[in-house]
Amino acid sequence: MLNYAAVLFVLSNFILESSELWDQDNSCPLICTCRLEHLTETAIYRFMQKDKNKPIPGEVGSIENNEVIQEENLDTVELLEEHSSAIVRSAICILQTETQPLDLLQSLPKDIETLTLIQGYESGNKTIKFSYLSKFPQLLSLELVGPNLMNKPANSNLICEIDLPMPELKYLNLERILIKNGKQQVENFLKEVNEEELTFEYVQKLDGNLHPLTMVQKGTNDEEIVPYKVFKEQRDTHGEVPLFIGFKKLFLLRITNCELNNVHWEMFDGLRELQYLILERNNLRFIPAFAFYGTPSLKMLSLAHNKLLDIQITDLAGLLQLEYLDLSFNNFTQLSELSLPPFPKLKLANFANNPISIIFPNTFEVMNTTDSLIIGSDDIPLTLITNSFIGLNLLQKLTINNLELGLLKRDLFVGMPSLTELILTGNITKLEYDAFLEVNKIKKLILSNCQITNISMDAFIGLQKLQYLDLSKNNLEYLPPAVFDQLINIKELYLNSNKFSQLPRDIFSKLHAKLIRLNDNPWHCSCEMSEWKPMIINKIKQRIIKQCEYTGDKGIACIMENRFNFKYVYENKVAPKCAHPEQFVNWSVFHAMRRILKCPGYKPKLQSIIQPLVIQHSPSFQPKALQRMFLN
Ligand SMILES: *[C@@H]1O[C@H](CO)[C@@H](O)[C@H](O)[C@H]1NC(C)=O
Ligand SMILES: *[C@@H]1O[C@H](CO)[C@@H](O)[C@H](O)[C@H]1NC(C)=O
Ligand SMILES: *[C@@H]1O[C@H](CO)[C@@H](O)[C@H](O)[C@H]1NC(C)=O
Ligand SMILES: *[C@@H]1O[C@H](CO)[C@@H](O)[C@H](O)[C@H]1NC(C)=O
Ligand SMILES: *[C@@H]1O[C@H](CO)[C@@H](O)[C@H](O)[C@H]1NC(C)=O
Ligand SMILES: *[C@@H]1O[C@H](CO)[C@@H](O)[C@H](O)[C@H]1NC(C)=O
Repeated sequence: MLNYAAVLFVLSNFILESSELWDQDNSCPLICTCRLEHLTETAIYRFMQKDKNKPIPGEVGSIENNEVIQEENLDTVELLEEHSSAIVRSAICILQTETQPLDLLQSLPKDIETLTLIQGYESGNKTIKFSYLSKFPQLLSLELVGPNLMNKPANSNLICEIDLPMPELKYLNLERILIKNGKQQVENFLKEVNEEELTFEYVQKLDGNLHPLTMVQKGTNDEEIVPYKVFKEQRDTHGEVPLFIGFKKLFLLRITNCELNNVHWEMFDGLRELQYLILERNNLRFIPAFAFYGTPSLKMLSLAHNKLLDIQITDLAGLLQLEYLDLSFNNFTQLSELSLPPFPKLKLANFANNPISIIFPNTFEVMNTTDSLIIGSDDIPLTLITNSFIGLNLLQKLTINNLELGLLKRDLFVGMPSLTELILTGNITKLEYDAFLEVNKIKKLILSNCQITNISMDAFIGLQKLQYLDLSKNNLEYLPPAVFDQLINIKELYLNSNKFSQLPRDIFSKLHAKLIRLNDNPWHCSCEMSEWKPMIINKIKQRIIKQCEYTGDKGIACIMENRFNFKYVYENKVAPKCAHPEQFVNWSVFHAMRRILKCPGYKPKLQSIIQPLVIQHSPSFQPKALQRMFLN
């Protein structure tokens, strides 16, 4: 969740340095800061970034301090294009006990474009009516953030009353507040829908000639048109939903932690320009059919962290522009081919952390454009059966958490010919021969934390494109000889945190890796390990934060964009250590080989290069870095 304190800190620091009010004639109330800022620097911009930097399970496990293994996929969506260079007049105010919202708003400059109101802790109940905001004709973005109760009973609430639509508003974020409809807004709604003569009932047409998922509007043949009255009755039984009718330009709507119990088509009716809808952390238990029919432009829908129990093919119907769907952290127990309607533009689907125990065949057939899919829950193990992934023709990245499989077999991955990244965690006892042959274009294979005990000699056959293989944190004691021989493009290989005491001779001989990690295994040190290269094995991958220029207003944008570089660095701490024989316990494998075992074949590359230097200088003059390489 967004840490407002941190954002405010960044903002307030920034304010100290720069920005006065845009216009000397206007005054900014004491509890507010008014300044010019880039629209991309406003907090609301963060919600438009697809990649919320969630750590990927498995990878984090193999990360040492300050080390990051993969380049993060920076899926920042540039949806603010139109405005991204725009400078806006913004005001942020903290509502305190004595603050009267109406008075406060009266005293703000009329020409503000973005407004953020944050309610202070234990400041009593405050109501903001949208009609109070009509004095800001240029308002583009509004954020209302309630008090952080930290699990205490709510005796301070921020209440938002929608009594008038805001037809010019583009970005609306409501967080930890109570939302009510004003009488006027209900009347607006009834007037509008009555004019439209609603026919919202659709049926699924099971006609041999059409795609099985085609929807036809009910009533277009001689079927009875369902009148508005029926829907009104339905709504009355479901309880009130906030009505956003008339918010014609709304582009982003985020309602989180607002105790929303229902969604209904009425809520979003007419939001034809809405592209981002985030309804996370509410109490939603079900989605009524066609709930999102009024928002045909939606690109991102997140219903994460609700209590949704089931999903039907009609529930998300009509979202033909949808690119990003997040249904994680709900209460779905199954997914099948009747769960999801066609999503012709879907890119990323996240079903993680639902108690789904099995994926039925053909479930994802409707996702033939999707390139990233996440499933599996921390609490309930997931079983796969053949054809679970049929139809994911363009899928590039598959993440499965908590997979329960005795044997990982080839036929489980049928149907994903474009896959380049496969990330599994769970309980997979054995990797069978040819296990990944169906997905032989993968570049990255992460099997960390999978409780693997056995790997077939031919498990990685066909994976010529593989660059990254992570087998860390498993129960491996043994690897078959030549198991990695086909991995001619491997750059990074992680075997750390297993139960290896030795590896077959020449196991790395065909590889040209930049990094091979072997630490945290109970190695039995012997001269058999002479072929291991400390310059590859004592390596970590480090993330370097790109330098940001903190001049002008670019600093904050740079922080938010999270851009990093990576490099491999030498690090003694990850040297593999001996567990046997007893006299070598806790010695680095390389140190033991050189100093104690005096292995004849063991000549670390560096030693021969540096030796002349050592002869010329007394050892105390050796630069520290060189000393460390010798001691590893
Ligand atoms: C705020 O409203 C809630 C109920 O809506 C009430 O229980 C609480 O006592 C009110 N707090 C104050 C400070 O008036
Ligand atoms: C999830 O659904 C089950 C019934 O299928 C119910 O017993 C449980 O309380 C639900 N969990 C939550 C968090 O709502
Ligand atoms: C996805 O499937 C639909 C329906 O079968 C088809 O019309 C469409 O062309 C397919 N798209 C791609 C990219 O394969
Ligand atoms: C993992 O799976 C094996 C059988 O495949 C089973 O014996 C074992 O108990 C499982 N481990 C856990 C922690 O569930
Ligand atoms: C699995 O590996 C263990 C050694 O780690 C070996 O004893 C056992 O025979 C192997 N089991 C199978 C089924 O290959
Ligand atoms: C080896 O290192 C481990 C962890 O650092 C420590 O617990 C153990 O006592 C050490 N053993 C010996 C013999 O030094």
